[in-house]
Amino acid sequence: MTKLLTSDVDEAVTALRSGGLVALPTETVYGLAALARSPEAVARIFAAKGRPLDHPVIVHLPDATYLDDWAVEVPDWARRLGDSCWPGPLTLVLRKARDVGGYLTGAQPTIGLRVPAHPVAHEVLTRLGQAVAAPSANRFGRVSPTSAPDVYRDLGEFLDPATDRILDGGPCPIGVESTIVDVSGDAPRLLRPGSVTAEQIAAVTGLPLTDEGPVVRAPGTLASHYAPRCPVLLTVSTDVQATIAGALETHPMGTIGLIGLADDQVRQTERVQWLLSAATPDALARGVYSALRRADDQAMSAVIAILPPDTGLGRAVADRLRRAGGSRAGSGSS
Ligand code: TXA
Ligand code: MG
Repeated sequence: MTKLLTSDVDEAVTALRSGGLVALPTETVYGLAALARSPEAVARIFAAKGRPLDHPVIVHLPDATYLDDWAVEVPDWARRLGDSCWPGPLTLVLRKARDVGGYLTGAQPTIGLRVPAHPVAHEVLTRLGQAVAAPSANRFGRVSPTSAPDVYRDLGEFLDPATDRILDGGPCPIGVESTIVDVSGDAPRLLRPGSVTAEQIAAVTGLPLTDEGPVVRAPGTLASHYAPRCPVLLTVSTDVQATIAGALETHPMGTIGLIGLADDQVRQTERVQWLLSAATPDALARGVYSALRRADDQAMSAVIAILPPDTGLGRAVADRLRRAGGSRAGSGSS
């Protein structure tokens, strides 16, 4: 076994302090972390991911008291949102402080900040006593990893065992990325749905929440994100049988995988197999990315994704599945 994988928090903290990269578990997905104040270390994140340099990264803070080191002109209602959801799966996009480098923000005037709740991420950050930049720990164009072995399969060859580590903290309990809210304007704007819901945000801020505007500022919101290599066909529970019949015709060879909430009406056959049959929307979120990865590992000819209802975590899962099923043109996962 390689030296990259470890479950020793001390080793991870030492690696980060020395300017190395550490893939670490958060409650959402694994992040690929480096000291946020080090442009050299952050540049290595982009190299390992194969990610374009103009994509902003989320800065992860040990706790909310660090917010004012990074952001200015924080509205009271945005602070309330941080206070009520942090530590947790919420990223706030705020006006950046003057000394925050453009290498973190994609040269934008805003910075994405989050305080992760996962005990391992929290321990790393508090021992380190400073912020880390951490995009999801996948190669650009791949789905986010929700386990240390998934990180290893994606990034192992792009990390250096002399300086870098993959910190194994088990599977991620939520499974889809944080909710991103732009709070740099007069009212909150939802840039990416996650487990903190639109209803919660509106309730805490007391302001109407607008959806993502026409300007795409978060690469995670581009249409072809979170996509496996094989085609992903979207359907809804009432149309599953027709979608299966169509897929069997369009893809006369190979296996077709199904992802969705459990459905007793769907009979598995030699060519139609459940990749993930989830009892609840939460279970669907936890398993959706590893299911998409299994579709690639098993060289399936297509995936049929049954969209869950657009409520609670179902909205975030439906969003990622729509992107997985979206056009491949001109982008990849961040
Ligand atoms: O749950 C998560 O958010 C995970 C874990 C590791 O914390 N991180 C994550 O990072 O998903 P990443 O880089 O894969 O996706 C972050 C998204 C990107 O789409 C990025 O463009 C957007 O956040 N983002 C970061 N800073 C931004 C900013 N200043 N303005 C707009 N979008 C921003
Ligand atoms: Mg990402």
